[in-house]
This record gives sequence, structure tokens and C-alpha cells, in this order.
Amino acid sequence: MNKRSAVISGIGGYLPEYILTNKELERMVDTTDEWILERTGIRERRILKGENMGSSFMGAKAVNELFSKTNVNPKEIDLLICCTVTPDMLFPATANIIATEVGAVNAFSYDINAACSGFLYGLATASKFIESGMHQKVVVVGVDKMSSIIDYEDRATCIIFGDGASAVLLEADDNEGNGIIDYYFRSDAIGEKHLHMKAGGSRRPASIETVKNKEHFVYQEGKAVFKFAVTNMADAAFKVMQKNNLKAEDIAFLVPHQANKRIIDATAKRMGIGEEKVMMNIEKYGNTTAATIPLCLRDYEDQLKKGDNLILAAFGGGFTWGALYLKWNYDF
Ligand code: UT7
Repeated sequence: MNKRSAVISGIGGYLPEYILTNKELERMVDTTDEWILERTGIRERRILKGENMGSSFMGAKAVNELFSKTNVNPKEIDLLICCTVTPDMLFPATANIIATEVGAVNAFSYDINAACSGFLYGLATASKFIESGMHQKVVVVGVDKMSSIIDYEDRATCIIFGDGASAVLLEADDNEGNGIIDYYFRSDAIGEKHLHMKAGGSRRPASIETVKNKEHFVYQEGKAVFKFAVTNMADAAFKVMQKNNLKAEDIAFLVPHQANKRIIDATAKRMGIGEEKVMMNIEKYGNTTAATIPLCLRDYEDQLKKGDNLILAAFGGGFTWGALYLKWNYDF
């Protein structure tokens, strides 16, 4: 009998309607459409507007789309994992809120915080629950409402982030050897000083002072983060290829975290693959943190074929980074 593996059997997603263009950002901060496009590859991003609308709102929309595309009954879901750094609140977990909202009444659920690598960590975690034989249907959601933690006066940071959500269904497969095959993940809190949120946690709870000092926004030293990202994301992708004896011609697509087109290009170059094999939607959505990778899979779903070799790669806050080797499981 073949080893049980966890395959992706469907994707859903949600993007808020409001489009924040580079042109609109030109009116908010000292920047230009040309600078943003050239330095990042981003033209526009989506923003979730409206009172009391958090990540769970977008996550539930993504999961509902997933259920309607796959015809899965929410009651069949055993586990729902939500990957996010912008939870609705510190607790309860956003996963708990989403699971109840979508009717996954027989599931247990929890959040994973691994910033831009969150979806990859969530996928690997979920795959182990399935491979163990304990669980049959697991949903992994990547969602972030980055606009809730962005200072729209900080031109170096506000231009790259956007809001969005996407979700995949993982199921067991005992036959064909598709699904999540391998991964290489790392983390190092050396990244804390370069990318963090100063207040709002147990070390520095919210106060009038923290609000006045803008300590509830993303603090990012872009250039330092860029340097780590550009080498580590490429290294991780290359390592996973080497470990699994994959050559450039064996790869159908690189599915990279969408933080900056220049980081993506460097990763593709290291892997020796051309741009026609790189999933890219940064132009439309910017950096939606935990949602970028599943949103790419959603946009390219109709180009994927059963048995395709995909390398998913990410780098983000923590630092956290890694790459995952996935064999696609269905034709669209
Ligand atoms: O996903 C989570 C992990 N995050 C990342 O992977 C982000 C990695 N970092 C980046 O993508 C890039 O560092 C940024 C896009 C954030 C910034 O681009 P950069 O090319 O690294 O710019 P920089 O910070 O080195 O700044 C270069 C120049 C500076 O001016 P001077 O000092 O050379 O005169 C900045 O003040 O560009 C200036 N600048 C801008 N100019 C116009 C910074 N932001 C802007 C802007 N518009 N929005």
C-alpha cells in the first residue's frame, strides 16, 4: 500500500472590492506610480472597508467559495487552520470565528502566526494531521487585513501591503503519490529588530502613549528585510529541489510569496526557471501576507494539471522562511 498523502482538492478566495491604486497613494504620501512599479512590481492592492470587518470576514468568504466549488458539506470538515498576523482580536482565534461562521460545526480550529510564511507552515501542519489517518478533511485559510496595521504616512511600507484571503481543502490520497511531498522551513528571531509591531502584545500592552507613538503599525526596515528575503527564499526553494532530485525542467510552477517582484525574480533565477513558470499576481494585490500563495494558486488554478510539480516558497516576519514541494492533484 502506498503512503497516505495530503492533497489539495480545491481552492477558494476573496478579495475586497476597494482598489487602492498607486495613483491614489501618490495623493497620500510622497511617492510615484513609477517608483512603486519599478521597485516592487505593484500597481494596485485591495482594501477591506467598513466598520467591524476583520480577517474573519474575508476568511469566511474564501472558505464559502471553497465549499461551493468543491461541493463539500461544512459538517465534514475535521480541522480548520487559519494563518494570519491580523486576527480579529488576540483571542479567540480567528479560526474559531471562521469555522463557526461557515458551519464547520464538527471541526476544531486554531490560528498559526508565521507572517508571510504562515500559509506554508499551515499547509505542512495540516498535511501531518491527514497523513496520521486521524483526519480526513482539513481547511487551511491564509488571510490578512494588512490595512488594519499599516501607517498610511509611512511611504516605504504602505505601498507594498494589501488585504485578501484564500483557502484550500486538504484531503487524504492513498494512491497516486500526489500532494505535499516535502518541505524545508526555518525561523530566526534575528528578524525581530527589522520587522515587527512594537506594541499591543504582552511585552508592551496598548496605552495612550503607544497609540500616540504609532506603535501599533508594522515597523519594517525594508532594505534589511529585502537582503535576508532575497537570499533565504531562493536558498530554500533550491534546497527543496536538490533534496528531491528536481531539475528546472521538472518544475511546472514556482508559487512564490508576493512581497516584491525583485525577490521573486531572484528566486526563479536561482532555481533556473523562466518567468513563464512563475506565478505572479503582485501587480493586482500587492503583499497580502498569509494570503499571497493560495491567491496565486487560485488565479492559476485553470493552468494546473494533475501531477504538476510545484515549489511554494515564502519569506517573512520572524524571520520565517521556507519552501514546500507539492504535486498537484487535479485538472481544472
Ligand atoms: O513580506 C514580508 C517581508 N517583507 C519584504 O519582503 C519587503 C522587503 N523589502 C522591500 O520590498 C523593499 O525594501 C521596499 C519596497 C520596502 C523598499 O524598496 P527599496 O528599494 O529597498 O527602497 P529603500 O528603502 O532602500 O529606499 C531607497 C530610496 C530612499 O531614498 P534615498 O535615501 O535613497 O534618498 C527612500 O527614502 O527610496 C526612497 N523611498 C521611496 N521613494 C518613493 C522609499 N519608499 C519610497 C516610496 N516612493 N514609496
